[in-house]
Amino acid sequence: MTDSSRPHFDPTFAQRIPAGRLPELLRAMPKAELHMHIEGSLEPELIFALAQRNGVSIPYASVEDLRKAYAFTNLQSFLDIYYAGASVLLKEQDFYDMAWAYLERAAADHVVHTEMFFDPQTHTARGVSMETVVTGLHRACVDALPKLGVSASLILCFLRHLSEEEAFETLEQALPYRDKFIGVGLDSSEVGHPPEKFARVFARCRELGFHLVAHAGEEGPPAYVWSALDVLKVERVDHGVQSAKDPALMKRLAQDRIPLTVCPLSNLKLCVFPDLAQHNLGALLDAGLVATVNSDDPAYFGGYMNQNFTQTFAATGLGVQQAWQLAANSFEGSFIDAAAKRAYVDRLNAVFATF
Ligand code: ADE
Ligand code: ZN
Repeated sequence: MTDSSRPHFDPTFAQRIPAGRLPELLRAMPKAELHMHIEGSLEPELIFALAQRNGVSIPYASVEDLRKAYAFTNLQSFLDIYYAGASVLLKEQDFYDMAWAYLERAAADHVVHTEMFFDPQTHTARGVSMETVVTGLHRACVDALPKLGVSASLILCFLRHLSEEEAFETLEQALPYRDKFIGVGLDSSEVGHPPEKFARVFARCRELGFHLVAHAGEEGPPAYVWSALDVLKVERVDHGVQSAKDPALMKRLAQDRIPLTVCPLSNLKLCVFPDLAQHNLGALLDAGLVATVNSDDPAYFGGYMNQNFTQTFAATGLGVQQAWQLAANSFEGSFIDAAAKRAYVDRLNAVFATF
């Protein structure tokens, strides 16, 4: 799409909508979520309910006790608790219930489209079959459009702390269900596990026609973002906030319109930024990047989509124009077709025009 054919912000929106109504606008505007790990949407209450239903024991006395453990110092301190929480998921209905709880919350936040990550290796390592995982999640995605008005799809993530050989085995197990997910991603412990470790499996996924994304530049250096782009050939970068340290990389991301799926409350809770006021979301937008706002692991980081928007805007002073741009970017960066993108941007403009 050329610069002139791309949707642009109508400046009369900013003249008409007072700053005091910004939180309400952020909540009401239609948006897409492009970076959310479904296992990271498991609320403590659901962890306890599933543990009881499945006879799984968890090393916490109560919901409050578990919530108290959510004091993270970095990515790894979170991942240890996140993988333990997922151990209560055993049956197809468990995966459905988890996804449905998230989709209801997404609908309440006016998320109209979502591309949800799942980590099959977390489950297959415990003897849960790929079929159980994928069919449970996919059934919830199918129900979401008619019942909630949310279009939902799945992206299978490889765990980067495991080997590329294990990623290939996971891909083999998933291929019978290839019509049930649209792409592959790369997540888990970033530092020490650069994207190029997965060069061959991503090349294979590309041949198979999957969309490609990867976490890069969350805690890791700009070099990991370069190799996600040039070696893995990803279409989107998850997080990518460390790119701001490398002006040449910023230029590349802007020129190629590579979306960054930024997760402000995640960055705050995992100490990527000392406070939200110092988050670089505004700087990424000012540099012309296709930045988006997402919740990452909302049950662990204290907020779903609308809390990510309202808290970040309150802390950084972003305004009506950035609100529109972030929502428009979320549709541009999604893996839906051009006509669906245009229809969502039309809905976005209608909300701003009548707000
Ligand atoms: N898995 C779940 N959340 C993650 C994150 N923020 N970074 C890497 N892997 C993850
Ligand atoms: Zn993530």
